[in-house]
Amino acid sequence: MELQLKNAVEKVILERHSVRAFTDRSVSETCIRDILDLAARAPSGTNTQPWKVYVVVGETKQRITDQVVASVNAIFRGELKKEQFKPPYLYYSEQWFDPYLRRRRENGWGLYRTLGIEKGNKQAMHEQQLKNYQFFNAPVGLFFTTHKALEAGAKMAIAMLMQNIMLLAKAQGLDTCPQASWNDYHELIMPILGAGEDEILICGMSLGYADQSQKINQYTTSRENVDTFVKFLK
Ligand SMILES: Cc1cc2nc3c(=O)[nH]c(=O)nc-3n(C[C@H](O)[C@H](O)[C@H](O)COP(=O)(O)O)c2cc1C
Repeated sequence: MELQLKNAVEKVILERHSVRAFTDRSVSETCIRDILDLAARAPSGTNTQPWKVYVVVGETKQRITDQVVASVNAIFRGELKKEQFKPPYLYYSEQWFDPYLRRRRENGWGLYRTLGIEKGNKQAMHEQQLKNYQFFNAPVGLFFTTHKALEAGAKMAIAMLMQNIMLLAKAQGLDTCPQASWNDYHELIMPILGAGEDEILICGMSLGYADQSQKINQYTTSRENVDTFVKFLK
């Protein structure tokens, strides 16, 4: 039986997708504050609320972009080594294997196909990658941190907070892209945020109004059928 999609929650879950091109239209501080206030209703183990959110706009956002883009360009030109920029924690496993590798490739090539970028066009791929570090032109950037000494539960709580933000944003006509790509550059970003020595960067996010004229935003992802990941035990 198909779900009857009447409900607002079901609607925003279906409408949300990762947006990778935004317009210049600004988002008011009140709107961001309201979204974060409500998003913080997310559950967390024993209500520890282990999240901290940095909202960056204007000059601060630009400083982060300038610094990170300079490093990413230097790596591309071979002037810096990628290994110099280590993430604060491993988001992905170091060895890729199926079915995750297959899904990851499908996503990557799907995105490049939408943009008309062919395999091997390193310059075009690099330029697309750089857009991550320009918040895809979004007017607002978010960075999520937690206390270094906290364990996996803190990351789970932040993930739930992030999903709430993404759904609440969608309900306001806004769009988002969660971005682990910032993590490699945490040593550049954290001092600009004024984050404490006891904090660890968990993820970034772009927030703004989708630029519907950009091809990249036409890319949609599929999901495996429920029977591939669910087992009912009676
Ligand atoms: C925690 C997290 C980090 C992500 N990091 C990036 C990123 O750095 N850059 C990017 O373009 N997309 C990033 N994504 C988006 C995923 O590629 C996307 O969620 C996935 O392909 C499913 O597509 P959808 O979000 O449009 O449904 C991230 C997603 C999550 C949940």
